[in-house]
Amino acid sequence: MTTDTVATAPRPVVRAAALRPARTAVRWAVRHGLPAAYLSGGARRGDPLGRLLRDPAVREEPWPLYEELRARGAVVPGSLGPVTTSHAVASEVLRSESFGSALPLDRAPRWMQWAFRFGDQPEATGVAEPPSMLVVDPPDHTRFRRLVSKAFTPRAITAFEPAVQQTADHLLDRLERSTGVVDLVDAYAAQLPVLVIADLLGVPRERREDFLRWGAAAAATLDPGLSFRRYVSAERALRAMNAFLAEHFARLRRHPGDDLVSRLVGLPEEEALTERELHATVLLLLGAGFETTVNLLGNAVVLLDAHRDQWESLIADPPGWDGAVEEVLRHDSPVQLTGRTAGADVVIAGQPVRAGSRMVVLLGAANRDPEVFPDPARFDVTRPNARDHLAFSAGIHYCLGAGLARLEGVIGLRRLSERFPELRVSGRPERRDLRTLRGFERLPVRLR
Ligand code: HEM
Repeated sequence: MTTDTVATAPRPVVRAAALRPARTAVRWAVRHGLPAAYLSGGARRGDPLGRLLRDPAVREEPWPLYEELRARGAVVPGSLGPVTTSHAVASEVLRSESFGSALPLDRAPRWMQWAFRFGDQPEATGVAEPPSMLVVDPPDHTRFRRLVSKAFTPRAITAFEPAVQQTADHLLDRLERSTGVVDLVDAYAAQLPVLVIADLLGVPRERREDFLRWGAAAAATLDPGLSFRRYVSAERALRAMNAFLAEHFARLRRHPGDDLVSRLVGLPEEEALTERELHATVLLLLGAGFETTVNLLGNAVVLLDAHRDQWESLIADPPGWDGAVEEVLRHDSPVQLTGRTAGADVVIAGQPVRAGSRMVVLLGAANRDPEVFPDPARFDVTRPNARDHLAFSAGIHYCLGAGLARLEGVIGLRRLSERFPELRVSGRPERRDLRTLRGFERLPVRLR
C-alpha cells in the first residue's frame, strides 16, 4: 500500500459508514419496497404473482393458483411481467439467447438507475445481485462458470461420494442417540449439505452454525418485496458472510490448500477475479450449496411419510432412490421460480413479450404441466419421465450443483431410511417463510 492511500484512506471509510443507513434504505426501496407496493396492489386485483408472493395461504399450497394460471394460457400478464406455468415455454425461455438473467437496469428510468448505484454496497451484496453468476449474462457468466465448473464435473462428484456417505453416517450416528421427537431439519437435512459444501470449498466445518444462520436470513433476498425488517436482517447476515469470506481468502492466500477456493484466490493475473467477483462466486457456491438441498431432503421425508407404501418399497429396493429424488424435485420443487429478461421484442406462445420485460418462470408449475407429466399432482417415485423436470432450470444457468444435490439426496435419504425404517413425521412440519425457495423450517419426527 502506498503512503498516499494510507493518508487518504480514513476519509472515504468514514463517509461510507455515515452513508450506510441511507444506502440501505434506498437499496431496500428499489429492490423490495417498490416491488412490494406493486405486488400488494396487484394481489388485491387478483394479479397472479402478487398473490403468489404476498398471500401466506398460497405459499403453503401454490398448486391451485398454478392451475388457475395454466387455465388462462401458457403466458399470462402479471404485475412485474409475463408469467408462465408451461413446461414448453419455460424450457424455451430458459434456453433462449433472446433472454438474459440480468435485470433490465439500462432500460429503467434515470432516477432508478441512480438509486441502484447509490444503494450499491459491495460488502452486503447477495446471491441475486451482480456479479453473482446467477444474474449475469455472457461473457462474464461464461468466465465465472468456467472457473468453477471443474469442481462439479460428474467425475469430481463421483469422487466425492465416499465423503458424502461418511458425513451422512456420522450425522446418523449422532441421531441414534436421540430419543423422542427430533427436528429432522436441524439435526440432519440442514447439516448434511452444509458440511458437504464446506468440505468441497475448503471452508471450516466449525463455522457451520454461522453459515446456517446467515444463509437462512440471506435466502429471503431471493424473494422480491421483502419487508424492511427482514431486509435489514438479511443485509446484516450478508455483511457477516462477506466479512468471514474476506478473512478466509486472506488466510488461503497465506496458506493455500488443495480446494476450489484456494484455486480461485490464487488464479494467475490474467484470469484473476476481482475481490467483488470472488466474493460473489464463493458466496453463491456456499449459499446455493446448502440452502436448496435442505429443502429437497425435508420435502422428500414429508412426501414419503404421506405415501408410506412408497417409502417401504424404496427400503425394499434401494436403487429406486434415484427415481424418487427426481420425483421429489418435480413434485415439490425446492426452487419454485426464476426470472429472465427479454433482450429483444419476441413472441412466446403467441404472446408478444417486449424487450426489457422480466418474464417470471414458475419452475414448480412447469414441473406439474400435464402436457409432460400425466396426472401431475400424483406423487409416484416410479414415474418414468420424472427427470424431465426443470427443478434445476435449463440453459446456461442450469444448476452447477445438480450432480452434487442428486448425490446428497440419494445418499442422504437412502442412509436415513436404512438406519431408521420406522421414521414417522410426528407433529406439524413448519414451512420456511420463503417464496422462491420451498422447504421446511422445522420437521418433527420420531425415529423409531
Ligand atoms: C436440490 C438442490 C438444488 C436445487 C433445486 C437447485 C436449483 C437451482 C436452479 C433452479 C438454478 C438456476 C436458476 C436460474 O436458472 O435462474 C441453480 C443455479 C445454480 N446452482 Fe443450484 N440447486 C440445488 C443445489 C445446488 C448445489 C448443491 C450447488 C452447489 C454448489 C448449487 C449451485 C448452483 C450454482 C452455482 C448456480 C448458478 C449457475 C449459473 O448461473 O450458471 N446448487 N440451482
